[in-house]
Amino acid sequence: MKTDNSPPIRKELVDPFGRKIEYVRLSVTDKCNLRCFYCLPKGFKDFETPDNWLNFDEIERVIKVFGELGVNRIRMTGGEPLVRKNLPELASRISSLPGIDDLSLSTNATLLDLQAEALYESGIRRINVSLDTMHEEQFADITGGGKLQEVLDGLKRSKEVGFKPIKVNMVVMKDTSLDDYQHVLEYCLENDFTLRFIETMPMGTPGRDASDQYISLETVKNRLKEQYDLVPGIMTGGGPAKYYRINGTDFEIGFITPISQHFCESCNRVRLSVDGTLYLCLGQDDKLELRPLLRAGISDDELKQAIIDAVSKKPERHEFNEKPGQVVRLMALTGG
Ligand code: GTP
Ligand code: 5AD
Ligand code: SF4
Repeated sequence: MKTDNSPPIRKELVDPFGRKIEYVRLSVTDKCNLRCFYCLPKGFKDFETPDNWLNFDEIERVIKVFGELGVNRIRMTGGEPLVRKNLPELASRISSLPGIDDLSLSTNATLLDLQAEALYESGIRRINVSLDTMHEEQFADITGGGKLQEVLDGLKRSKEVGFKPIKVNMVVMKDTSLDDYQHVLEYCLENDFTLRFIETMPMGTPGRDASDQYISLETVKNRLKEQYDLVPGIMTGGGPAKYYRINGTDFEIGFITPISQHFCESCNRVRLSVDGTLYLCLGQDDKLELRPLLRAGISDDELKQAIIDAVSKKPERHEFNEKPGQVVRLMALTGG
């Protein structure tokens, strides 16, 4: 029971632009076993030291507080989330928290074959998997040496254990994707996976990001419209994709267009990185360092207030188009 006269803390997180924050993207590690050139370039070494990783108790506490503030969706990301030890344990703890009714995972799937069952049992129900090509060599090229078969094995196993929906994320690149997408699409059709195309964002290393590989998804959509009758889709999720269904089937294709048609006016999310930094926007540097507060013994009410204050400073939108040379941080350090 409250003993002071302070006003009760709000149960909702609303930013200055009237956007309700109900989705936290939780990056459980900044490490990855692949090196996709648009995300985490080869040779990068400046990873966070383990002492600075939030431990499971700290993560659970922060997510519990977010749940009390009205957040109901959590997505675990990385880096590659499956390289964090004991991920199913963390997932169980999060999925048991009051108010959290949607726990999902974004993964490269290379380690999923072995972990899919435990992750499903931990309460995760839907997963998104990166897959840009069905050609082994091309896959190795994009990912800095990754093995396509591991991803396909991970996806197969995930389907067997019951994840649904399974969404395949294809980052679209000018030089290769227009030749590659049909193979990925057919693979998704065969397996009942949802395919999503994503416009590449400038989140690599400055000067070595994927900006020169950018094309608008209008190009892809127009090609698809020549091949298929696309009608509005109904796929659920917390993210920014717009879905179309191939008429006469229940196969859906999503388009994520941060560059050609940004969706910031409907943004519903913030990001917590492995070191406990709360990033308020994927494309901006505004943040709140939660780790020092947690380790200094902040109370739950103080933590709530700190989060409310941070959200009151959430930027209106990214400026990838207005500031093309600026790379705010690597994608792998914030979890996409
Ligand atoms: P669901 O809709 O819940 O399935 O998930 P999602 O699409 O939000 O998650 P996923 O991790 O699969 O992200 C797909 C792509 O959308 C990635 O390239 C993300 O970087 C991008 N994305 C997700 N959220 C945002 C966002 O807030 N802003 C921008 N600009 N891109 C985002
Ligand atoms: N631009 C767009 N999407 C990206 N992803 C990683 N880096 C980028 C980028 N620079 C995607 C991955 C993954 C998702 C979480 O983010 O393909 O599917
Ligand atoms: Fe939200 Fe920023 Fe993403 Fe725009 S870029 S949708 S404001 S997180």
